[in-house]
Amino acid sequence: MKKLLISLLAGGILMFGANAQNTKKTVVCYFSATGTTERLAKTAASALGADLHEIVPVHKYTSADLNWHDKNSRCVKENNDEKSRPAIANSIDLSGYENVIVAYPIWWGLAPKIVYTFVEQNDLSGKNLVTLCTSGGSGLGRSGSDLANHAKGALLKGGREFRGSASGVEVKKYIDGILK
Ligand SMILES: Cc1cc2nc3c(=O)[nH]c(=O)nc-3n(C[C@H](O)[C@H](O)[C@H](O)COP(=O)(O)O)c2cc1C
Repeated sequence: MKKLLISLLAGGILMFGANAQNTKKTVVCYFSATGTTERLAKTAASALGADLHEIVPVHKYTSADLNWHDKNSRCVKENNDEKSRPAIANSIDLSGYENVIVAYPIWWGLAPKIVYTFVEQNDLSGKNLVTLCTSGGSGLGRSGSDLANHAKGALLKGGREFRGSASGVEVKKYIDGILK
């Protein structure tokens, strides 16, 4: 009887543990034009044991597209057009995730327009949202809160800039702190 009780209790604890993990499923979704944010996103996903999802543009950004000195470049045109929503080539089913971490480079103080496409195309309602960015120095600014305004029903938990070379320990400490 005692043995039975112990094994039932142990089973219960195991099941509870498994459930707790499942309901806390986390995914790191990122857009990166030149690889810096990709490094950060990969570090974050591996440190957190989270899934990783790249937001892939239908039309990849060339270096000419990214030339912000050229007022006719793609990035300048997208930035100047409030309604611009560059198309995404791939998709993800977010329904099984409780925590969605979105990582992006800062473009003119905000997230690139394709990241708006992503948060508007996907259902983030009721999910914890964390925004991570890399930048040339201007930092997160209001990029996270602006993005969250377009992610209907998402619960913005926080956001921060990291270097592309940030360590897993550093990133995990921050995320664990705000998602606890
Ligand atoms: C079009 C464009 C606009 C940018 N605007 C800013 C900015 O406003 N502030 C800043 O600090 N860095 C800015 N940057 C630099 C990027 O945020 C930075 O290099 C970032 O780490 C690049 O990430 P990625 O390699 O993942 O694309 C800009 C870069 C580009 C291409």
